[in-house]
Order: sequence, then C-alpha cells, then structure tokens
Amino acid sequence: MMKKHSIKISNATRYYPGAAKPAIDDVSLDIAPGEFMTFLGPSGSGKTTLLSIIAGFVTLSAGSVEIDGQDITNLKPHKRDLGVVFQQYALFPHMTVSQNVAYPLRQRGVSKAEIEKKVRHVLDLVQLGDFAHRLPRQLSGGQQQRVALARAVVYEPRALLLDEPLGALDKRLRDRLQLEIARMHRELGMTFVFVTHDQEEALTLSDRIAVFNNGRIVQIGTPTELYQRPNSLFVARFLGESTVMEGPNQGTSIIVRPEHISLKGLANNCSEGELSKPARITDIAFAGAHLKVGLAFAGGAIGSSLITAGNPLSFQRGEEVLAVWNRENQHAVANENVAADSAAG
Ligand SMILES: Nc1ncnc2c1ncn2[C@@H]1O[C@H](COP(=O)(O)OP(=O)(O)O)[C@@H](O)[C@H]1O
Ligand SMILES: [Mg+2]
Repeated sequence: MMKKHSIKISNATRYYPGAAKPAIDDVSLDIAPGEFMTFLGPSGSGKTTLLSIIAGFVTLSAGSVEIDGQDITNLKPHKRDLGVVFQQYALFPHMTVSQNVAYPLRQRGVSKAEIEKKVRHVLDLVQLGDFAHRLPRQLSGGQQQRVALARAVVYEPRALLLDEPLGALDKRLRDRLQLEIARMHRELGMTFVFVTHDQEEALTLSDRIAVFNNGRIVQIGTPTELYQRPNSLFVARFLGESTVMEGPNQGTSIIVRPEHISLKGLANNCSEGELSKPARITDIAFAGAHLKVGLAFAGGAIGSSLITAGNPLSFQRGEEVLAVWNRENQHAVANENVAADSAAG
C-alpha cells in the first residue's frame, strides 16, 4: 500500500490564448486521499484541461492546485510526482517492455537491483510478467496500455492521472481493462483521477464522479447519488435514461427512471401514491435480464420502462397502456444547460 494523497483545486480558471470564454471556469474540487475520482462530460467540456492543470502541463489563468495542502500551482510537471496515462500509449518504440517501465526509475537514479525488483513487481501487477522482453510493436493495444499503466505507477507517484486511457480500445478489451484498473486502484490504494466521456465506465469505476459541462463542474457525487438525485436535466440525461415530462413550474422537468415505470392496461386504476399517464408502446427490446419498453406520451414526451425478464409482458408494440410510477420515484430537475447537452464524444 502506498501513502495516500489529497488534491485540492481552488477557483481554477483557464483561458487558452485568443479564446473568448474560459475552458475551465472557476472550478473548485477536493479529491480525497486514495479516492477514485472521475471527470465525466461531453467532448470539449474541459475535462482534459483540468487534468492537465493538475499535471502541470497547462498553467492557470487564476486559482490554485494543492497536494496534501502544499501549493503546487507553479511547480513544473516533473516536480509534481504524479503518474500520467493518456489515450495514446506513447511507449518508447525501441525499448523493451521492462526498459520502458524502468525508464522513470533510471531517471530518478534508483539502483539497478531496486529497479529490477520494482519493474518485476509492477509487471506482475498488470499481468505482463511474461512480456518483459518484448518490444511495444509486438504487443496488442490493450497490452501496450497496461505497459503505460505500469510505467506510470512504478515510481510510486502521489496520484495517477488517466485521460481516456481506454478510448482507443474495442469494447471487449475496454471492459477487461476497466476491471484491471479497478483492481490496480484497490491494490495500490493510490489516488486516481480518471477522465472519460463514457457514463458506464464512470459508473463502474468511480468512488465519485464530477460531471462537467461548459468548463464547469455541474454536479459531483457518488455514482448512486448522481443517478438517483441528478440536480439538472443535463446530469439526468448524461447518466442513464429517463422519461422526461413537463414539470409543475416553468424551467423544471419531471424525470422518472425506466426501472421505476411499470405498465398496466388502460382500464386500470392507480393505487394510493401512484401516478400514471397513458402512453403508446413504440418498441420492445430484449436485453438479457430485462425487457426495455419504449414509450411515447401524448404531447411528445418519450421514455422507457424496464421490465424484469422474469415477468411476462402482456402488451405488444403499438398498444396503448398506462405508465405507472410512485410519486416518490419522480424528481423535479432544472432545465438548465439544455442547449449545451448535445454532443457526447
Ligand atoms: N491547446 C488548446 N488551445 C486552445 N483551445 C483548447 C486547447 N485545448 C482545448 N481547448 C478548448 O478548450 C475547451 C475544453 O477542451 P478540453 O479540456 O480538451 O475538453 P474535453 O477533454 O472535455 O474534451 C474546448 O473548447 C477546446 O476546444
Ligand atoms: Mg479530453
């Protein structure tokens, strides 16, 4: 287990040269020692910029960065003692796997015997013990990224910063490496700051998620908190699916998650505490453990209902049904940022 470190960002703002609006706009954030913190948001929302601010590759126009209470705002990147992994593997092509991993240790003047021990240990950690003498081009993309991970943690940095490290991999490899990154985090006990635009990845891996939009963090919380209590339509749409209906006040919407909507025949009545709206079934998709039923409501709202596959569905596509949910499972959210919540990627 390594020593755990905290990261504190205070009122960080960054204008790129010539830009009219900041890429990061007055962002404050506390990352706890040993935490797995994820930056989630659409393309261009400022995730990479904030990660680069922590790493020291991008300087601040205003604000500060601290590690364990020490101000590092003006410290050069190599003096910050942070590990960094990007989407592109960026391994040295002419060096073997073990030479690549040994590189940061050699730079730090670590003894040969110590280097050998640490490289072996960390290659075992990423399950590449048998590949020590290969060159990067003799490895798959997933293996190369594991070498990059090994190289980034071998010198026991104060935190590991990962910018879409799985972005270049296909779905199956992604899932595998996701689990490996989760295991590395558990075994190392280090602070991880992880950037992704993939909500599933964020929900799977994170202790907490910071949701980015337009250079700001619009909500921060555990995956469960964000899913169950999104504070805006933007967050509700970015994390999971919902049926969105007009709210009681202007500027608010009512959302209900698919697992909270059940279906009844039109002739049925609701029980105490239940709410309902007629809807037409637009499609029924079998998704293994669940059936996902698409719904179209009068007035144009669309949504879905998730039915456990064990329960037989007595309705068909095109049928009119009653969508039913409990009052306690509907949430009013602000409509803010609707214009900005388009492109993910
Ligand atoms: N080197 C740069 N020079 C100028 N503008 C940049 C630069 N890097 C990013 N930006 C702009 O800053 C904003 C945030 O970008 P970025 O932090 O890369 O977002 P994300 O990682 O969420 O996709 C975007 O509008 C982007 O175009
Ligand atoms: Mg980015």
